[in-house]
Amino acid sequence: MEQAAREAFAKWRGSADRVVIARAPGRVNLVGDHTDYNDGLVLPMILDRAVYVAARFSLDGAHHFWSENYREGVTYSPGQWPGVRPGHWASYIAGMIQELPPPGPIELLVMGDVPLGAGLSSSAALEMATGLALEALRGKSVPPLELAQIGQRVEHRYAGVKCGIMDQIVSRVGRTGHALFLDCHTLKWEHIPIQSEDIQFLVIDSRVRRQLATSKYNERRAECQKALEFMQASDAAITSLRYAGAHHVKEIKESVLQRRIRHVISENNRVEAACSTVIHSDWGTLGRIFSLSHESLQGDYEVSCEEMDFLAAHAELFPGVFGARMMGGGFGGCTINLARAGEGPAIAASVTAAYEDKYEQKPVAHIIGPGLEARRSYD
Ligand code: GLA
Repeated sequence: MEQAAREAFAKWRGSADRVVIARAPGRVNLVGDHTDYNDGLVLPMILDRAVYVAARFSLDGAHHFWSENYREGVTYSPGQWPGVRPGHWASYIAGMIQELPPPGPIELLVMGDVPLGAGLSSSAALEMATGLALEALRGKSVPPLELAQIGQRVEHRYAGVKCGIMDQIVSRVGRTGHALFLDCHTLKWEHIPIQSEDIQFLVIDSRVRRQLATSKYNERRAECQKALEFMQASDAAITSLRYAGAHHVKEIKESVLQRRIRHVISENNRVEAACSTVIHSDWGTLGRIFSLSHESLQGDYEVSCEEMDFLAAHAELFPGVFGARMMGGGFGGCTINLARAGEGPAIAASVTAAYEDKYEQKPVAHIIGPGLEARRSYD
């Protein structure tokens, strides 16, 4: 795909001399959803699909971007802002440029095979790939954690999503064949090898995309903040929901907030347990953790939707499925399914057919191969 990006660039600008190519992968999350912005624990893994960026300095005084996927170009002058809405593909690139300004205007082409808007972190991948290219154009490297934080800031400032740090960190530092155990309070991580001979991870994209997903996501963050303020009124030492205990849940009178905290507490526990199941290749237990995580995201955190509930429940009817759950921010997007090796395609075919029957919409299934690590190459 690096070669394809180079060729597409040459077609777009007449030549691809002196381009820098960078790529960064999308991600799945084994478990640990809506915990990252509560200083909690997460266990994501990079995808075998990535966003590719080809970039070099521009000679005509303007920034030029081109998206191969959308077949759309954006041009603007340095020091200004392109006329695009927050969350538009070009807003992530312009945002990264704003945070890591190159010494002159640039030409940048983006393409990739991370499904867009499906909850597989195509935007974090775009931020990280752009960031890696900008490092080269600036002649100065940025520590991986810092680059991830810059990407997170771009989401907050230029896309209006108050996301946590999980997606950017795993896209930047995730390793092939490993899950990433990340503590979002200390910002320390560990690469956990996955012995995957006996299993397959299957992602099923419901193709449900809800406009309200961003506002609902931000609403959950605000609820967590409110819950924290309640707890701090009686326990000034508590700094985040990560450190909430069962007694805090009892003290809060509002049942919605009780459920939100309960999810964060139980999901953090599940991440710890999941980590040890991966280390011991205990897939039966990991599958049960998937199911419990889904229940909690559905009932306590209320970020699932009918279509994802259907996908997860239907997949779990198969003896070859250890467990299934909705994944990511919620309100649409993908489920992740842990299946016995070799059974993924049959399960995908059957779940897809049942879903299509019911919702007249064909979901897309991907069996995840070994992840593609972020990297940069020069001409
Ligand atoms: C989105 C956000 C992440 C994380 C997940 C939910 O992917 O970008 O920071 O909060 O949702 O776990």
